Amino acid sequence: MCGIVGYLGNSNTKEILLNGLKELEYRGYDSAGIAILDNGAFYSNKAIGKLHNLEEKTEAFNSKGFSLGIGHTRWATHGKPTEQNAHPHYGTDTYIVHNGIIENYQELKSELEKGGVRFNSQTDTEVFVHLFEFYQKSLGNYEAFQKTLKRVEGAYAILLITKNSETIYFAKEGSPLMLGLKDDEKFFASSDAAVLGLCNDVHFFEDGEFGYVDAKGFHIESSESKDIAFQHASLADDKISAQKEGYRFFMEKEIYEQSDVLADTLRGRVLDSGISLQELDGEFLDGINEIKLCACGTSYNSALVSSYLLERQAKVRCSVEIASEFRYKEPLLLKDTLFVVISQSGETADTLEALKMAKKAGLKTLAICNVDNSSIVRLADKSILTRAGVEKGVASTKAFATQVAVLWMFTLFIAQQKSTLTKDELKQELKTLRAIPKAAIVKDELHEKVKRLSKRYLHGHGFFFIGRDLFYPLALEGALKLKEISYLHAEGYPSGEMKHGPIALADPELFTIALLSENILFEKTKSNMEELGARDSTMCCVSSHFYDKADDFIKLTKYDHYMLEFYEMMVATQLLSMEIAVRLENDVDMPRNLAKSVTVE
Ligand code: AGP
Repeated sequence: MCGIVGYLGNSNTKEILLNGLKELEYRGYDSAGIAILDNGAFYSNKAIGKLHNLEEKTEAFNSKGFSLGIGHTRWATHGKPTEQNAHPHYGTDTYIVHNGIIENYQELKSELEKGGVRFNSQTDTEVFVHLFEFYQKSLGNYEAFQKTLKRVEGAYAILLITKNSETIYFAKEGSPLMLGLKDDEKFFASSDAAVLGLCNDVHFFEDGEFGYVDAKGFHIESSESKDIAFQHASLADDKISAQKEGYRFFMEKEIYEQSDVLADTLRGRVLDSGISLQELDGEFLDGINEIKLCACGTSYNSALVSSYLLERQAKVRCSVEIASEFRYKEPLLLKDTLFVVISQSGETADTLEALKMAKKAGLKTLAICNVDNSSIVRLADKSILTRAGVEKGVASTKAFATQVAVLWMFTLFIAQQKSTLTKDELKQELKTLRAIPKAAIVKDELHEKVKRLSKRYLHGHGFFFIGRDLFYPLALEGALKLKEISYLHAEGYPSGEMKHGPIALADPELFTIALLSENILFEKTKSNMEELGARDSTMCCVSSHFYDKADDFIKLTKYDHYMLEFYEMMVATQLLSMEIAVRLENDVDMPRNLAKSVTVE
């Protein structure tokens, strides 16, 4: 959820920390802080709100020569987003930044309070620093750090600095953390975005690893090994593509980028002879009779889309699970099931834990993910990367587009292995698949139209996005997008289900966004829309077929395949959410209460 950075070297530590935090701000942004050890003295500052507040507060400070520091951008879990609760947390002579949750903090806090320790914040993190200082009274720094690690339970990526030593102590369990090297400089980050362009020789810590870095070098160990080798992984330089490039928001840029990234997603995988997914070559899918897809949020919606495709085209039994539910329902996991997790970030805690459960039960696992080297990719048996590039808008757009594309390729890959489609049918599907980048191009007229009509949809008591078949998960995704950035109440519903209760809400103040496909269940969806219209719901129809009873109409291209309709409708609903949020003057890229990567349960 939060973002953490660390630096040790001769450059301007404050600048490196603040620049790194800027790259991670999308992960959490209710407060931020830094602590720097410069010539034996600490400098620390924190600020609530966006990072520029911290930048202003720290303007006057600059380190000279060798120094070390840690920084944090927060998304509150324990304690309100106040300056006191912002990281770094401190004791007498020690500072810490932490991403994750210390589950037994209450118990540790009571113990420390009984010993006379006074707490400055309501966070779980602060127990670590006091416990460390308690052990530091009788032990060396590193021993005290290790002893503290043994006492805490939960998930963490931790960086700790203490006054009597020019060293950064670190530990990783369940939350992402990496170390980068360049000459004598050492960089820490919870995600590579913070260090792109600064170093290109990195180690992605595994759960259970801990150690320290100082001017002389570094040491990494775990309970299994006293000396863990540095991985020497390299990073792609993606920085330029992560800028806004003239668009008003990252979300807008990412919507416009979808056509290009979809082409990247398909590249080398859709051949005249069929789908080629080298990641799945060999016997990996042998013996699989069922597929269980598991994810959260937008990634869950893409899973749901693919469940229609997998059963229809690949004739494979398929179920879809919300990861946070799956974890605790005591699911029945059978060995002939392939467990597929879908995640943009590859760090979502619920999805990661679900994957661990599936692995433990002996299932084959596959990750569909956007971030190489992420925890989920490293854990799954096989992975297919979605190739969406860095997604900065908290509201996911291009990640969804590419997830659906990968899942559709995966479906066709199975279909060709099992011969569930005829040669001609498969050829037709491949042709359509190649056409999706074109269907996802943002047309000027479409954007203009959506911009104009968005002003009608700013008030009212709620939205229903409705659709049938795989336009139902698209309706769910449309409603999720709108909720996230407009803060208006919106629900996605299967059109046919409205009459079983929700239609009671219909009146002119209820806005219905109807996704009317001409290729799938056209007449049935139209009847459902008529039922709503008869009850005076204000309606916007998104379709290639003109529907004269709607109050507004967003005209789409006429296609002969539902997946091409799907991609153009996806673009239309994304633009609609964005333009409504713009009119409401909301922060499109960093909506309130959200974080890009949800690394806590
Ligand atoms: C998408 O707009 C959301 N911000 C959110 O639902 C997201 O899809 C979810 O948290 C899962 O994230 P992941 O894909 O990185 O696992």
